[in-house]
Amino acid sequence: MTQELAPVVHGEAPAAADRPEDAQTDWWRSAVIYQVYVRSFADGDGDGVGDLPGVRARLPYLAELGADAVWLTPFYASPQADGGYDVADYRTVDPLFGSLADADDLVRTAHELGLRVIVDIVPNHTSDRHAWFRAALADRHGGPDRERYHFRPGKGVNGELPPNDWESVFGGPAWTRVPDGDWYLHLFAPEQPDLDWDHPEVREEFDRILRFWLDLGVDGFRIDVAHGMVKAPGLPDIGHQEQVTMIGSQVLPFFDQDGVHEIHRSWRRLLDGYPGQRIGVAEAWAPTPERMALYVRPDELHQAFNFHFLRCDWDAAAMRAVIDESLAATVSVGAPTTWVLSNHDVVRHVTRYGGGATGLRRARAAAMLMLALPGSVYVYQGEELGLPEVTDLPDDVRQDPSFFRANGQDGLRDGCRVPIPWTAGGSSYGFGSGGSWLPQPASWAGLSVEAQTGDPASTLELYRAALRLRRELPGLGAGESVHWQDAPEGVLALARPGLACTVNTRSTPVELPVPGRLVLSSEPATPTGGNIRLPAHSCIWWAI
Ligand code: NOJ
Repeated sequence: MTQELAPVVHGEAPAAADRPEDAQTDWWRSAVIYQVYVRSFADGDGDGVGDLPGVRARLPYLAELGADAVWLTPFYASPQADGGYDVADYRTVDPLFGSLADADDLVRTAHELGLRVIVDIVPNHTSDRHAWFRAALADRHGGPDRERYHFRPGKGVNGELPPNDWESVFGGPAWTRVPDGDWYLHLFAPEQPDLDWDHPEVREEFDRILRFWLDLGVDGFRIDVAHGMVKAPGLPDIGHQEQVTMIGSQVLPFFDQDGVHEIHRSWRRLLDGYPGQRIGVAEAWAPTPERMALYVRPDELHQAFNFHFLRCDWDAAAMRAVIDESLAATVSVGAPTTWVLSNHDVVRHVTRYGGGATGLRRARAAAMLMLALPGSVYVYQGEELGLPEVTDLPDDVRQDPSFFRANGQDGLRDGCRVPIPWTAGGSSYGFGSGGSWLPQPASWAGLSVEAQTGDPASTLELYRAALRLRRELPGLGAGESVHWQDAPEGVLALARPGLACTVNTRSTPVELPVPGRLVLSSEPATPTGGNIRLPAHSCIWWAI
C-alpha cells in the first residue's frame, strides 16, 4: 500500500535504459534477477507455448518492474521430457522457442533496456536424444562411446538388478537397462542420462558450450544440478530408501561431492576471461549453509540459490535464524547471499504459506522482507502478481515427469508452471493468441498485469514500489548484515541502511512504537500517536 505514502527519496529511479552497461561494479551482489520460465511467460507465435520472441516483446515490462537481470530457463533443442532440462543440442534453439537469431535479438534488446541475461546450462545430464547418448546406445558393453556416461553391468545372476540402490529424484530406480544388458545412470528421468565428468571430452565440450553463449553476449549461467556432476568413486550403495528426502539434508554419493568444486573453479576462470562480469549461479542442494558457501568461494561461482530461506515456514524465529545463518555462511567466504521464495520446481509461496487471503498477505510481507535484505533476490515470474499454485490441474494435461514417475504422489511441479496472465480478457489472458499449454484458472483475469496495473493495493504495484525503493536506497541490497531490534514474539524488526523493516507473522495485530517514517506497507496501516498497529501477516518499511 503506497497511496498515502511519501517516497523515501524523491525523484524517479533511473530508467533501466539509462544505466551504463558496466557502471555498477559487482552488479550481481545485490541484483534483482527475474526468472522467466520460457514455456509459460509469453507466446509470440500462438502455438500455446511461450517462446523467445514472446519474452523479448515483454522485456520492457521487466525493465519497468525494476529487475536488473533475467534468467531464462532452457530453450535449447530438446524432446521436452523434462521441460527442456533434457538437452539434445546445447547450441541450437528448439523450434518450439524460436531460433538462434531470436536468442541474439533477445540478448541485444535486453541490454538496450539495461537488463542482463542469464541462461540455464544443464551439465549433469543430456537428453537421451543427444548425439553422444545415441552413439553410446549403438556402442557395445565397455565401448568408448559409453564412457561419457555411467554405464555399468547389473547385479544378480544375470545382471538383472540395478548396479546400486540409487533412486531417481523423480521416483523409481536411478538406472535403466539397455537391450544388451548394461544399465545406465539417470538421477532424474530415464530420458536424462547422467554424464561422466571424469571424461575429458565432457569437460572440453562444456567449455566450448559456455563460450558459445558467452560469445553471443549472455551475462552468465544458472548451473543446473551444480552439486551433482561428480559421483563418489565406485558408486557405493546408500542403504536407505526414499533418498529424495535426504537431498539437501546430507551429503549423498551422488550429490554435493567435493569433486564438483574443481569444475566450478575452472568455469570461474573461463567466465573471468570475458569482459563485463559474467556470472555463474549454482543450483545446488547442500545440507548446511556452510557447505552451500563452498560453491561461492572467491575462486568458484558468484552465487548459489539459498533454498534454506525458501524452505522456511512462516515463523518469525525460524526466518530470523535462517537469515542469520545464510548471511554468516556466505559472508565467511566474501560472497553475497541470495534470496528466493518461489521457482519452477516448488509450490508457489502464496500457497505454501497457507493459500487464500492469508497466504497472499504472508507472501506480500515475505517479499518485502526479502527485498529489505542484503544480497541478490530472485523473483519467479508471476509472484509479483500474487499468483497461487494451480492445484486442480487434470491429470491428462500434466507434463511433469515426476508426476508420472512417482504415480502422482509427489513432485507436482506443473501447478507453478501455468502460463501467466497479462490481460483481463482475451485468449489465455494475453499469454498468446493460441491458448496455453496448461489451463489457467478463470480467477486469473483479476490477477493479470492489466488488472493490477495502477491499483495501489495490488501485489504488482507493491513489488514495483518495493523494487523502486530498493534501487533508490542502494545500501539495501549491499552490505552483509542486518541489525535486529527488540520485538515481541512473532514480530521481526530489523534495521538496514536508511530503512527499518517490521514483519508481523502473527494472526493478530501488534502494537509497536513507530521506528521512522512509513514508506511502504503490505497492508493498510496508519501510525497514530507515535504507535503503529502492525496488521496481522504484514510488513512495513520505515525511512530512518
Ligand atoms: C533442476 C531444475 O530446476 C528442474 O526443473 C529439473 O527437473 C532438474 N534440475 C533436472 O534437470
